Amino acid sequence: MTSSFSLEGDIALVTGATSGIGAATAVALAGQGAHVLVAGRNTGRGEAVVTTIRSRGGKADFVAADLSDAESARQLARRAVEIGGRVDVLVNNAGAYAFQPTAEVTEEQFDAAYALNVKATFFLVAELAPAMAARGKGAIVNISTQVAAFGAAGAALYGSSKAAVNLLTKAWAAEYGPHGVRVNALGVGPTRTEGTAAMGDGLGQLAAQSPAGRPAGPEEIAAAVVYLASDAASFVQGVVLPVDGGRTAV
Ligand SMILES: NC(=O)c1ccc[n+]([C@@H]2O[C@H](COP(=O)([O-])OP(=O)(O)OC[C@H]3O[C@@H](n4cnc5c(N)ncnc54)[C@H](OP(=O)(O)O)[C@@H]3O)[C@@H](O)[C@H]2O)c1
Repeated sequence: MTSSFSLEGDIALVTGATSGIGAATAVALAGQGAHVLVAGRNTGRGEAVVTTIRSRGGKADFVAADLSDAESARQLARRAVEIGGRVDVLVNNAGAYAFQPTAEVTEEQFDAAYALNVKATFFLVAELAPAMAARGKGAIVNISTQVAAFGAAGAALYGSSKAAVNLLTKAWAAEYGPHGVRVNALGVGPTRTEGTAAMGDGLGQLAAQSPAGRPAGPEEIAAAVVYLASDAASFVQGVVLPVDGGRTAV
């Protein structure tokens, strides 16, 4: 008997799956039986994730993608459908998170953050959700952040881009939910990844503000993605689930 967390037979596309939370998510989804399309820019790290999954008996393929605009998002979606035949689970994880004072943000940095965090997410959903809706089944999980839920100095650009993702999550739940596509997000707290390694002690200091008092490991975020992607969350739609060690609760 399969568990309600089973993703057996599903095709899952995970963006930013060459590193950190995305890589852990790819491994976790494959562990539940999904055929995972590992998307990212770095072929070497992408193939390493694929090798890890296959060595555990799972199914995975690397799909190169540099997400910078609508066309790059649409191309990735089309390539994923070519390889997998369809996409049942989409995890919008690729993200840029520069923390800096508002006055120091250049227009290029502003455009790049919104292009990856908002625009690529938007057009991946635009390309893939209609086919999920036509089949009457699908799950989309957007990886957001705790700093989309409250004001944090230095997080104006990043937090506002992910706040847009939080609203998109609800708008898409309204648009696609009636057709069997569940759209949810995770409000992620400080997590140890390749991307946050440069923050050094700063990550632990941020994490100390939460009841958990420590950063997450990427597999703790991946477990929540598996939940939202699977039938275990069959009545969960349009939520931004905090996975932040309790930071936004207190
Ligand atoms: N870590 C945290 O504390 C934390 C907290 C809250 C939310 N989040 C969110 O969680 C997600 C993952 O974070 P992480 O810490 O795991 O990140 P990470 O270790 O820095 O990895 C980022 C991933 O995104 C991919 N990526 C970056 N720019 C891309 C682009 N232009 N096109 C395509 N792929 C691109 C990278 O691919 P390549 O390496 O192949 O270039 C890599 O796979 C992000 O959305 C982030 O905002 C993280």
